[in-house]
Amino acid sequence: HRHVDHATPESVADIVTSADHHPVIPDYQVLEGYLSEGGYGELERVRSGALTFDAVSTTIAESGLRGLGGAGFPSAKKWDFVRSAPAPRLMCVNADEGEPGTIKDRYYLEMRPHQFLEGMLIAAHAVEVEHIYVYLRDEYPAAREILRREIAAIEAAGIAAPGYIELRRGAGAYICGEESALIESIEGKRGLPRHRPPYVATVGAFGRPTLVHNIETLYWMPPILKNGAEWFAAQGKPGHKGPRSYSVSGRVRSPGVKVAPAGITVRALIEEHCGGMADGHTFAAYLPGGASGGILPAAMGDLPLDFGELEKYGCFVGSHAVVILSDQDDVRDAALNLLKFFEDESCGQCTPCRAGCEKAVKLMESGRFDDPLLEELCQTMADASICGLGQAAPNPIRSVRKFFG
Ligand code: NAI
Ligand code: SF4
Repeated sequence: HRHVDHATPESVADIVTSADHHPVIPDYQVLEGYLSEGGYGELERVRSGALTFDAVSTTIAESGLRGLGGAGFPSAKKWDFVRSAPAPRLMCVNADEGEPGTIKDRYYLEMRPHQFLEGMLIAAHAVEVEHIYVYLRDEYPAAREILRREIAAIEAAGIAAPGYIELRRGAGAYICGEESALIESIEGKRGLPRHRPPYVATVGAFGRPTLVHNIETLYWMPPILKNGAEWFAAQGKPGHKGPRSYSVSGRVRSPGVKVAPAGITVRALIEEHCGGMADGHTFAAYLPGGASGGILPAAMGDLPLDFGELEKYGCFVGSHAVVILSDQDDVRDAALNLLKFFEDESCGQCTPCRAGCEKAVKLMESGRFDDPLLEELCQTMADASICGLGQAAPNPIRSVRKFFG
């Protein structure tokens, strides 16, 4: 953390780019490299009219591309909602990757930033967006520097009009990854989630219809248009469409971002993509979707990982952050740790979440995991919280109670 008191935007920029504070920039693909492999060719086809909106939208829909920030909302359907709302329209790119264990957006930003930028400009063209905000979490200084350089590069190359893309920095709040809190933050206000409806597709930033996409969702758009819907869809397991970027952490031999089929099981993910369990550890439990997706036992390790598959067990795959626990971990400790996280990150706007997280932590800390009061509290939080944070916070408690006794 940097401590910058009363900094003007200029002085912050000076500090960030000074030699002392310069982040280590990984060896990423610059504009020339991307262009040399045909990069920005799909954007050109879209802008020239060679690919009509209907053609682009149909291809994206048939590919099965869904919102990979974690909710899995069909991307083409989102375009339809925003496009049918009156202009001027805005776009906010959600790069506030904050779900514990999730590192895939950073991975793509630090490897192939132009593939994401091309996807972003394609989506912006599709719904006729007037201005784009990229909201980047401040804990990603290398990604910020890369985006700063490469946005300037595409402006200089005439690919994006100067000022069309605006890079905004978060300030460390998990809740600002929730799309309406993110928009409040962009508007210069405290990041409090809004009630919905209205959805941001109709009333978003500055009251305008707003397209919100996650980094990875946009990242896949150029290759889908280039290689066809079937190329993407066929990368999933039977009955599941597309590749997924699993951020695997915990007790595996080789953690990291693993691009694997949608619908793979956690057991196959560990064995085929992570080199098996770490030495001396036996697979015991897993978090399928970061902090909010619940905790499942190894005995349920043969379930397909995809949107809609784990919900019947009160869990979800979300942003595909898979955390592997072993026989040396205590799932109650893990659940308590997650609730402490939610208690810290609750924006405090609504009582079920603000007071609920705090009370859940107290009950868990005093060992009252089996108290019916805890379930009553979970139900209230799930039913009555304004946003996904408070609604999903009970998932780890409920799954530990249900599946681990
Ligand atoms: P959601 O399902 O309510 O919404 C998903 C998207 O679809 C939003 O953009 C929403 O505006 C749009 N949408 C849904 N219904 C709509 C309608 N009827 N009309 C127009 N637009 C509509 O889910 P939410 O609460 O936005 O996201 C929850 C997910 O976020 C969780 O699965 C969680 O895993 C994930 N998450 C990811 C994080 C990360 O760092 N990647 C951090 C925290 C949570
Ligand atoms: Fe804020 Fe929690 Fe309510 Fe969401 S559920 S608005 S994070 S208090």
